[in-house]
Amino acid sequence: MRSFFHKSILLLSVAACFIACDKDKPNYQYMPDMYEPIGYEAYGEYDIFVNGQEAKLPAPGSIPRGWMPYEYENTTEGRAQAKAKLTNPLPYTEDNVNKGKGLYTIYCAVCHGDNGDGQGILAEREKILGVPSYDDPGRAITEGSVYHVMYYGLNSMGSYAVQTSEEERWQIAHYVMSLKDQLEGNDAREFVEKGAQTDVEESEVEAAQENVGEENVLTETEDSEEE
Ligand code: HEC
Repeated sequence: MRSFFHKSILLLSVAACFIACDKDKPNYQYMPDMYEPIGYEAYGEYDIFVNGQEAKLPAPGSIPRGWMPYEYENTTEGRAQAKAKLTNPLPYTEDNVNKGKGLYTIYCAVCHGDNGDGQGILAEREKILGVPSYDDPGRAITEGSVYHVMYYGLNSMGSYAVQTSEEERWQIAHYVMSLKDQLEGNDAREFVEKGAQTDVEESEVEAAQENVGEENVLTETEDSEEE
């Protein structure tokens, strides 16, 4: 009797193994919701959607949060336009220029040199050629053109749009223009006091924030009414 019992257990477990290995039929699922979510899978195929796919492309004209579109094109004309028209939105404060200096030392000095004369360590060792000095009269750089080349790069100089934020690029642009002044022997541009120029903007921002606050209150009450 006992050996029959053992044998049947063995048989059953072998059988169970074969049943379990039947790939066409899934095993019994406890709480199948855990396996088969009711919500659509992020990248799943569903007929209900226009392109048959759950993941949608962003609506035309939408931009990621914290990112502003840059209106000048990556062409010679675009660069000329940025050079002529684009100005630095950040006030020329000591803080902004110092931050620009720190970033410049990290990203630009290897080629352009600490003082912007185009004699960085890579230029000295001839790893990269044709690095200009910021006072090169043929180039006559402006804060707009400095921003533009950081955004898109220029020939053998790469783009810094990924490594730096919009604000950081403008801080670097301030510092580059201060180096240009030094190289040309001009008097250093005077710093403005922090906030001196931004008083108006700040009150506008506050007013805008108040409006946003009111809108939030409205949507909240709408939501609770629906529930
Ligand atoms: C790998 C070396 C390298 C690095 C790093 C580099 N540059 Fe350049 N840069 C160049 C070269 C080479 C040119 C000349 C490009 C040309 O005219 O073909 C140039 C040109 C420029 C010009 C002149 C553009 C014009 O209008 O003629 C500016 C301004 C400039 N760089 C700023 C920067 C700033 C700011 C950074 C740091 C964010 C930086 N560069 C980092 C190599 C570099």
